[in-house]
Amino acid sequence: MSKASKENPYLAHLPADQRYTGSSTPPTVKEPLYGFLPRRVKGEQVRPVLEGDVNPFTKKQHSNAYKKILEARKMLPVYAQMDDFYKMFTENQAIVMVGETGSGKTTQIPQFVAYSDLPHTKGKMIACTQPRRVAAMSVAKRVADEMDVQLGKHVGYSIRFEDMTEPGTTFLKYMTDGMLLREAMNDPLLERYSTIILDEAHERTLATDILMGLLKGVVKKRSDLKLIVMSATLDAVKFQKYFGNVSSSGNSGPAPLFKVPGRTHPVEVFYTQEPEPDYVEAAIRTVLMIHRAEDPGDVLVFLTGEEEIEDSCRKIKLEADDLINQDPDSVGPLVCIPLYSSLPPQQQQRIFDPPPSARSESGPPGRKVIVSTNIAETSLTIDGIVYVVDPGFSKQKVYNPRIRVESLLVSPISKASAQQRAGRAGRTRPGKCFRLYTEKDFMTELEEQTHPEILRSNLANTVLELVKLGIKDLVHFDYVDAPAPETLMRALELLNYLAALDDSGELTELGRIMAEFPLDPQMAKMLIVSPEFKCSNEILTIVAMLSVPNVFIRPNNQRKEADAAKAMLSVPDGDHLTLLNVYNSYKQNMHDKNWAWSNYLSARALAQADNVRLQLERIMERFGIELSTTEDERKFYENVRKTLVCGFFMQVAHKEGEKGSYLTVKDNQVVALHPSCGLETQPEWVLFNEFALTTRPYLRTVTDVKPEWHVLLEYAADYYDLKTFPDGETKRALTRVQNKRLGKIVRADEPRNGTDERSKKKRKKNN
Ligand SMILES: Nc1ncnc2c1ncn2[C@@H]1O[C@H](COP(=O)(O)OP(=O)(O)O)[C@@H](O)[C@H]1O
Ligand SMILES: [Mg+2]
Repeated sequence: MSKASKENPYLAHLPADQRYTGSSTPPTVKEPLYGFLPRRVKGEQVRPVLEGDVNPFTKKQHSNAYKKILEARKMLPVYAQMDDFYKMFTENQAIVMVGETGSGKTTQIPQFVAYSDLPHTKGKMIACTQPRRVAAMSVAKRVADEMDVQLGKHVGYSIRFEDMTEPGTTFLKYMTDGMLLREAMNDPLLERYSTIILDEAHERTLATDILMGLLKGVVKKRSDLKLIVMSATLDAVKFQKYFGNVSSSGNSGPAPLFKVPGRTHPVEVFYTQEPEPDYVEAAIRTVLMIHRAEDPGDVLVFLTGEEEIEDSCRKIKLEADDLINQDPDSVGPLVCIPLYSSLPPQQQQRIFDPPPSARSESGPPGRKVIVSTNIAETSLTIDGIVYVVDPGFSKQKVYNPRIRVESLLVSPISKASAQQRAGRAGRTRPGKCFRLYTEKDFMTELEEQTHPEILRSNLANTVLELVKLGIKDLVHFDYVDAPAPETLMRALELLNYLAALDDSGELTELGRIMAEFPLDPQMAKMLIVSPEFKCSNEILTIVAMLSVPNVFIRPNNQRKEADAAKAMLSVPDGDHLTLLNVYNSYKQNMHDKNWAWSNYLSARALAQADNVRLQLERIMERFGIELSTTEDERKFYENVRKTLVCGFFMQVAHKEGEKGSYLTVKDNQVVALHPSCGLETQPEWVLFNEFALTTRPYLRTVTDVKPEWHVLLEYAADYYDLKTFPDGETKRALTRVQNKRLGKIVRADEPRNGTDERSKKKRKKNN
């Protein structure tokens, strides 16, 4: 019998060495990862597997799409450094890595690690953290495609309220840094991971900073855990020093640096001669100038937020269409694509579409314009960008511990940011960056680096997580940069007022449960006490609605209609109640697909709220927190408002004078109700969800509350101890309520036939 006859014709699609099915010799279907020793793997072993026909993780044939993407991956700078990477990874426990944006760090390195760790054979995972949800989702999708697996199976992602992984199958998990921090609370040594990659470390987000501190300790305790800290800027020395001497093997000196040489092209930078009075308008004008006058190549514009971005996209599109109509022979087609974090994933994916093609063979080529928030600065790499328009602003968090206000403010970016932005133009070929500020401002006004988030955040959540993690000495925790003592104090104070921490800073039973909710402590507190007021179903809905993007849509050209639709759903006593009402109406109208749209509501945000609600409900069930609704209809809204006070008693304001201005309790900030607020009157006391600094300080999402309910004075007695109040109208008003209450208590103690004239009068007046 000839050898050929033993070949199974049904296996003709397999490589020759796998076709053989003769019975005299056993089948030799080669395991692709045969001979791979965990953590001793070399590039020369991995490359043939990548080129091979069989996917080592699914054992299926590689698709054509896989092969096509592989060709592109092989062009990335990190691919050329695979051998060096494996050498360093094998020899070290902690590595710091820097490389230009777009060099392939985020997509390739976790895959390299997978071939060395072989986590799927050990029931472990590789985590790669991202500061942004969008990036975690988008990159996970891309890597799933690159590995030829279904997203959510071998490769998945995990972000707050959305877990796209399959336990037991997923071995490469992209996740937000905040999610990994939460996991650490219940698994302090992060046992389920073999390697943890902290990506975008240069962003210095709060969660990444805390994770660096935690992991420094974990690496010492777990010799089997590897850590890679990846950053886009050359500020790596700080991380190298920080992670020096940490490895359990006793290596001395700073952590080794793995440098991915960039492959960037020169970028010519232009400044404006004079400061621009309106950066949005200037950005639009610049895009149109580029479209008219510059060579082919896509444009990336940095703006600060959803509304600004959507608005600009519309204007650019309109004006570009005008240009084409005027001069069809010299101006090509233009598509304008928005990019911001609350955009649905399919729409985010559009940034990777090719630019539109020319209308005719000889016509001018099309151009893609992406208008994005900071996401496109380093988190997502978009190929084909040749022009960058940088107005010099981004939305940044600021926290003022003195008045306990955290806000997102449109603020000037740093020089480091400006350089990153410019770099986006040189990925494919030499590019241009148009800075919409003067060179002098760049030199003298911009800070060198953006301040780490830990220095400008409210730390209440973080402190609760750290205490839950068993870290008692918050002052001496090994921070990369230590937060201001006043900020730590404020956080401890808030948690103490909420009774999550006792007076000696120990976690209380209540605090333990609060920490389990992926929510701000005030919201967690509200959920936990809500059964006492028989409204946990309602509070659950409100918390879910407050945890998703704004559900109200207000298109620029249909503001009146949108406001009218909102008014129909508004509850006069408070915006929180309106949110509850919107959700309930949504559930009642689920059968009607157009309901959300015709009421100017975001169907996506509502669906998200529904999902968040379900997940929070599960946590409540886990802790035996009863789900209840009052049967007394008259009490329905009032109970909800009382419960709101139990969580947010520190966010109350008192009306001062008749002009509609309010003063925040204790912190004495003069504020006004935001125009979006749906209250019918201007009540004496309001509770607010958000203190927004825009053109002036505003309170957003506001509900009418009454100290006469005594929830303030009973549930928040410490905070509302009048001795601790500054003198003023607020204190006088509260004193009146207090006295009335004490009067009532005293009266109740008096004999029935008491003849106290004063109290009689008072009673009369009250009637
Ligand atoms: N969703 C995607 N679609 C198409 N290409 C992508 C996608 N994500 C990443 N890429 C490609 O992968 C390259 C490397 O990206 P990435 O690994 O994120 O780089 P880095 O982390 O070093 O900035 C990008 O330049 C781009 O070509
Ligand atoms: Mg990256």
